[in-house]
Amino acid sequence: MVAATLLFMVMATAGPISAATTTSEAASADTLVGLYDNVAKYEPADYTANSWKSFSSARNAAATLIQQGKEDPTGRRTARAKLQSATDGLVMVRGLKSLVADYRTRSASGYSGDSWAPFAKALDSAASVAADASATAPEVAAAKTALVTAADNLVAADAGTFQTITNDVFWNDTSGNPIYSQGGGVFRFGDTYYWYGVHYTGAELYRANPTRKYDGDVSFVSIPVYSSKDLVNWKFENRVATRSTSLGSGTTLGSAAWVGRLGVSYNENTGKYVLVVQAYLPSRGGDGVLFLQGDSPTDNFGYGYFQTQIVNSPTTGTGDQTVFTDDDGKDYLIFSNRSGRARAFVGKLRESDSLRVEPGVQIGYNASGREGNAMFKLDGKYYHAASDLHGWNTSVTHVIESTSSNIQGAYTSEYTLQGTEMDYSHVTQTGFFVTVKGTVQNAVIYAGDRWADFAWNGIGYNQWMPVTKSGARPQFHSVSQWQFNATTGEWRVGPQNNYVLNPNFQADRIIVPQVQGWANFRESGPSSIVTNVNGGANGSRFGLQIGATQSYAGGVWQQITVPAGTYALSLFARTSGSLSAAQVTVADASGNSRTYNVPASSGWSRRELAGIPLSAGTAIVTIRAASGNGYLFVDDLGLVKTSVDTQPTRYEAETGPAVCQGTIDSNHAGYSGSGFCNGDNATGAYAQFAVNMSAAGTATLAVRFANGASSARPANLMVNGSTVATVSLESTGAWSTWATKTLTVSLNAGSNTIRLDPTTAAGLPNVDCLDVGAVT
Ligand code: GCU
Ligand code: CA
Repeated sequence: MVAATLLFMVMATAGPISAATTTSEAASADTLVGLYDNVAKYEPADYTANSWKSFSSARNAAATLIQQGKEDPTGRRTARAKLQSATDGLVMVRGLKSLVADYRTRSASGYSGDSWAPFAKALDSAASVAADASATAPEVAAAKTALVTAADNLVAADAGTFQTITNDVFWNDTSGNPIYSQGGGVFRFGDTYYWYGVHYTGAELYRANPTRKYDGDVSFVSIPVYSSKDLVNWKFENRVATRSTSLGSGTTLGSAAWVGRLGVSYNENTGKYVLVVQAYLPSRGGDGVLFLQGDSPTDNFGYGYFQTQIVNSPTTGTGDQTVFTDDDGKDYLIFSNRSGRARAFVGKLRESDSLRVEPGVQIGYNASGREGNAMFKLDGKYYHAASDLHGWNTSVTHVIESTSSNIQGAYTSEYTLQGTEMDYSHVTQTGFFVTVKGTVQNAVIYAGDRWADFAWNGIGYNQWMPVTKSGARPQFHSVSQWQFNATTGEWRVGPQNNYVLNPNFQADRIIVPQVQGWANFRESGPSSIVTNVNGGANGSRFGLQIGATQSYAGGVWQQITVPAGTYALSLFARTSGSLSAAQVTVADASGNSRTYNVPASSGWSRRELAGIPLSAGTAIVTIRAASGNGYLFVDDLGLVKTSVDTQPTRYEAETGPAVCQGTIDSNHAGYSGSGFCNGDNATGAYAQFAVNMSAAGTATLAVRFANGASSARPANLMVNGSTVATVSLESTGAWSTWATKTLTVSLNAGSNTIRLDPTTAAGLPNVDCLDVGAVT
């Protein structure tokens, strides 16, 4: 009777479908009813017709037996064995079907012909496998792998667009809802980026009222997944795991005392997406790595495995961890040991199914401990990055880099990632990295974690900054706003970027006599007149205080780097006592400076000085006060460029009056406009542009070209009939890899002809366009 009641309850419940129950998990349920309950919600649409047929008859037989409620141990054992084997034999096609449906929305016109053909083929065969009644599990996995690989290889026909990333604000998804995603990662599956992270209640509370702290509110809500093509606009897809996600043996994820630090691996053998999560499961052995798996990137993920110990780690569980996928598709867990976190490990995820971390290989050691462990790869080298060990607080980024091509091989000793010193990595801790393979360049994004919780460190936890290679080492760019082109991999500083570093005096997280990124100076009076204090502007935690109860003069200064332009300085300020000087000065590399005198004000007031001309190079921002007994408080400094750069004018090689001694082609992706000039392979087969200038002077030319041949194709640069330079147009490695050559020439006012005249029989490379800057 009990069993029958249970049966009807289960049948009546419509809910998310969990992944196929594994043999070991089902065995632990140990009864026919237990197994039946596990599989009661399976839907025919999720499986191949043939595997469903045997499953469904075994399930019906089991249902009948349960409903009869007879004492028949042998019959029930047999029915259970049959149902188990039919369940194990189920071939899931849910993920493949959803991928096929998604990829059917792509259209040929958006991609290069070379990349579309194999994609279209993979899509067709994936569709037929998805519809094949007798497809096997390995066939389904192979069809998925082939489809996502072909989708990953799709080359956009156009040159992409720049999208704006703004830090220091709360982020929303494309529907305008808050993005709650912490401690996760962004993974590219096929032609789409998926962002997984953890939603905690503390994030909601902080967003609703960011003027206080919320001690330790890391109650787990869910693991959302968002998708994006451009890494800027994120569409909410699903909650891949929630508090009710089953962990087998009667427990759910809601019973976890901690859920965080996760990443996703696509396993080519099983065709499953495996979410690898740091978890503390008191009922399951404590600290460990939890594996959940889904059949598509946005599926409802189900239980895979819980691994408490990784071989070679001195403790169970992990300190911090992220998932890194190498160029060859192999996945690794990047982690530190839980207690002490002194050792940095790289452990490979088991290739057969990604459901275990293989023995960890120690790649780094720091006795003080490191956390926020994450990996990126740039120009063939692996970089392991981590933060100081002090909770979710901000720190410089510590890097060790590989000295061989082996991710688990030797690494250098630790150094500080350049650009993270002055504002502690834009007031963050390392979260994870995203590597983008662009048509022009590869790009690395540092995704920083600025947690609101006990640290109360400002707004939101998603602060993304570009990392480039400057000389031998990577360089972090602490920008508050930037623009990124995910197609080409190019980036530039955003128009609203604030050039001041640690402008809110919040990087330190504690009260200090010298705030990070700012140097103290003293003209007279006591030695210590500077500190950050509790109670900043706009309800923030900290502000800067300069002053004393006796006579003094001095303050702080900071050196930054700015492009030439006109700037606006803004700040929040208040004063107490009477000040003989209260000023903020901006001086540029040429020695010009502008000073703003801060008026007395007992409450915080916003102040602004616009129209500050700055030459390119270093600039110094100084905050100074002088008094017999008084204080200046400053917060939320801003130095934003208000002048708009004149964009160069683009001349397309395929658009008359340009001349192309060859054909206008469009068969190699990545060109701008509607095509490019494929010059005849002959000496003197030129490409020519007609350029109109409003004034005479020196102008910068940028020739965009692709040379898929192995040697350079030199050309004379002819301006108005005379050869002014010889240009070597080097191999770019492929006809769809475009590069830019920059040249400086003198031009006349009015019309000019600019010709690239090849000097060898190979002719020109393919020439896309010419960008001409304003004369100087
Ligand atoms: C290939 C390529 C052309 C290019 C030519 C060349 O045919 O597809 O775009 O112009 O080589 O070597 O010039
Ligand atoms: Ca050619």
